[in-house]
Amino acid sequence: MNHYFTNEENLKSNIHLLEIYIRDKRYLLYSDNGVFSKKGLDFGTKVLIDALPFNKITGDVLDVGCGYGPIGLCVKNETSSNVDMIDVNLRALHLSKMNAKKNNLDVNIFESDAYSNVNKKYDYIFTNPPIRAGKKKLYEILRGAYAYLKDNGEMWFVIRKNQGANSAIRDISDLYNVELKSKVKDYFVLCATKKNKDVDNA
Ligand SMILES: C[S@@+](CC[C@H](N)C(=O)[O-])C[C@H]1O[C@@H](n2cnc3c(N)ncnc32)[C@H](O)[C@@H]1O
Repeated sequence: MNHYFTNEENLKSNIHLLEIYIRDKRYLLYSDNGVFSKKGLDFGTKVLIDALPFNKITGDVLDVGCGYGPIGLCVKNETSSNVDMIDVNLRALHLSKMNAKKNNLDVNIFESDAYSNVNKKYDYIFTNPPIRAGKKKLYEILRGAYAYLKDNGEMWFVIRKNQGANSAIRDISDLYNVELKSKVKDYFVLCATKKNKDVDNA
């Protein structure tokens, strides 16, 4: 079975260009078979982006599970921040790189399984996390962010109620203060900030 988060080398490639409006701005983004939401902007991604605090985003930003790039590229386009984007899906990474170039956006894109290749701390971590990769991976991303956030950093993520939003809030609340920033249909946008700022081992 093909999942958007696995590397399916044998899956036929069909790179095509999407015209996508994000926060009323037009982007031309390449998409392909084997990547998340290949036909257009995912609704959860839109709900997350619409909730982000664009007027204060600055410093270092990490987009975890960037797919073909809508979150990181939009943040780079609309803020003065330094944006890193990571994924495990090589096709998604290739597309993100093409899309950064196509839209003239200077971002840093690299392969990383959760934070395995990440070696700095961020002011903001944004993610529409890979729910279908399983709870263990989800928590590796959500709980693992702790070590890659600066003391006053914020992790913003979107999760649906029926995908375990409430249990996710409960299960990370030992590490973070978690605030509901937006709720559209059953999509929750949550902002997590560090509780115990001098402890690094999540
Ligand atoms: C729900 S999709 C979001 C994609 C993109 N950010 C968007 O909003 O369209 C989750 C992404 O996480 C990636 N992913 C899955 N497992 C991962 C892991 N262990 N580490 C990093 N990224 C992962 C998937 O390949 C996929 O691109």
